[in-house]
Parts: sequence; C-alpha cells; structure tokens
Amino acid sequence: MSPQSPHALASLRRDAAVRRGAALHFLMNDQQIPAFAGESVAAALLASGWRELRHSPRNEEPRGAFCFMGSCQECLVWVDNRKLPSCQVAVREGLAVESLDWREAHR
Ligand code: FES
Repeated sequence: MSPQSPHALASLRRDAAVRRGAALHFLMNDQQIPAFAGESVAAALLASGWRELRHSPRNEEPRGAFCFMGSCQECLVWVDNRKLPSCQVAVREGLAVESLDWREAHR
C-alpha cells in the first residue's frame, strides 16, 4: 500500500478559489504524507494517491474510504492505539496513522 503517483497531490486538489490551512506532514505506515490543516486523514491520503487503508477480514480484498462521512467504516485505521474512521480524524503535524493490516503484520 503506497501512493500511486508523486503527482497525485497536485492533480486531486483544487487550487483555484480554495483557502487552505497550513501545510503539514503526517505519517501513514511511516511514510510522510503532505496535507493541509483542516483536511481529514482520508482526504489527505486520497489526494496523495493512497487508496488502500485496510483489507477485508473475510476475503482480504483491499478496502478504502467510501462515504467520507463516518458511516461505512471502510476507512478504519489505527490512530493513537485506537481504530478510527480516517474520514473523521483531522490531520495534524506528526500524526502517526497505520493501516490495519500493517499494524497486525508487524506485531
Ligand atoms: S469513508 Fe466511510 S466511514 Fe470513513
């Protein structure tokens, strides 16, 4: 699971008529992800080309953000030792996020 393109950040964010928060970085599976204050983790990951956040426990198919409003739970990640929907977590400098499979595979 990694970003698909180094140019994805620029291509998925609107530049015109948008006032952004401060630029920052957070970690996803120990990789630095650029973001802007006010974005959700799920939105920042999507803008960076990161689609897979976990795998289905039944058939191990990749899962990613779907509703972006906290309903589907497809975007669950580990944040501060809690499983949280990444679409409901705001980015902040130095925030450490882990995909579910990555954490389970390394512990
Ligand atoms: S994308 Fe549906 S709960 Fe986060």
